[in-house]
Amino acid sequence: MDFLEIIETLHGKKVFVTGHTGFKGSWLTLWLRELGAEVAGFALDPLQANDHFNLLGLHEVMRDTRGDIRDAATLHSALNSFEPEVVFHLAAQPLVRRSYSEPKLTFDTNVGGSVNLLEAIRKTPSVRALVYVTSDKCYRNKEWIWGYRESDELGGYDPYSASKAAAELVFSSYLQSFFHSRENFGAASVRAGNVIGGGDWSENRIIPDCIKALSAGQPITLRNPQATRPWQHVLDPLAGYIFLAARLLQEPKRFSCSWNFGPGSDASHPVIKVAEQIVRLWGSGNIEVTPDATAPKEAGLLHLNCDKAHLQLGWHPHWTFERAIAETTAWYKDFFENKPAIEISRRQIQQFLQP
Ligand SMILES: NC(=O)c1ccc[n+]([C@@H]2O[C@H](COP(=O)([O-])OP(=O)(O)OC[C@H]3O[C@@H](n4cnc5c(N)ncnc54)[C@H](O)[C@@H]3O)[C@@H](O)[C@H]2O)c1
Repeated sequence: MDFLEIIETLHGKKVFVTGHTGFKGSWLTLWLRELGAEVAGFALDPLQANDHFNLLGLHEVMRDTRGDIRDAATLHSALNSFEPEVVFHLAAQPLVRRSYSEPKLTFDTNVGGSVNLLEAIRKTPSVRALVYVTSDKCYRNKEWIWGYRESDELGGYDPYSASKAAAELVFSSYLQSFFHSRENFGAASVRAGNVIGGGDWSENRIIPDCIKALSAGQPITLRNPQATRPWQHVLDPLAGYIFLAARLLQEPKRFSCSWNFGPGSDASHPVIKVAEQIVRLWGSGNIEVTPDATAPKEAGLLHLNCDKAHLQLGWHPHWTFERAIAETTAWYKDFFENKPAIEISRRQIQQFLQP
């Protein structure tokens, strides 16, 4: 069976997504709906009117529950009453900078909230597959040149990274203590890096910052132009998550472990290169470099070794760095030309599925 045939096994399945109102969650929900899955989501309200979730009108085609994952009883009730077969866990406080200003909220959400979800799953027998999203930042960053493997040491300097490392430890404990022995049940944690794509308006992320500046006719301001990151289109790790969920349903014990879904090592580039490409594709705009002496410490280069996903799942990143930037910029250009977001995003999913 190939990739398409395997993900199509999610057709008609009941799927529960935490964090469905967010950037990755809204793309995931749209893709699951395109596959014919019945989707329920649990998350806080979208942050703004033009969030991808709102633009797509997803609340009309799913069971859309607004709640806080720190509230164990409400989360359990939403999960249990839907009786899903598959769960994707994406809800989190995902911003490093905010984790410095609100460390307790970050730990409560990313660690406590994850415990609440695992407990709810433990008490919901319908669930057969869990894909639990953490981050590449869960690894202790040794600032070395090699990619991190799934078996490498966990750890984090800033509260966000530490919360994701802690969420991984929690996952591992539940997997070993409860889930390995549960029949017909598979669970995997997944670690991806910075993702880009249309419909992201988050604060302090390079693409939204560039687009907000360009669409307002203002220069793009870069604080740290040489900061190098691995860049990946959001559909690439989502393809890995969806594929993994389908494989967990087929062979739960074989795939119950942790997986990296990062871009190739040639996708690491400095922020300035990303901004320059966006300006070129946008057709106009300027870049200003304004170093921020008060910026909190940010970890240096970290990239993932994805040999395990390549060899054991047959997953590979599909869109190159250049393609990811081009598709992302095209999304925003179409959006500002008043094309309906649902059409732009659907078309990009279809294009992504082309060989
Ligand atoms: N975007 C990236 O580059 C990136 C990189 C690595 C990992 N991740 C991880 O992927 C996941 C999704 O990230 P994103 O970029 O879509 O973030 P996002 O901020 O766009 O979405 C976060 C989602 O979590 C929900 N949420 C936050 N706090 C909640 C709470 N207390 N209760 C219920 N829901 C809550 C929000 O409502 C939203 O739906 C997160 O776990 C994040 O850590 C993202």
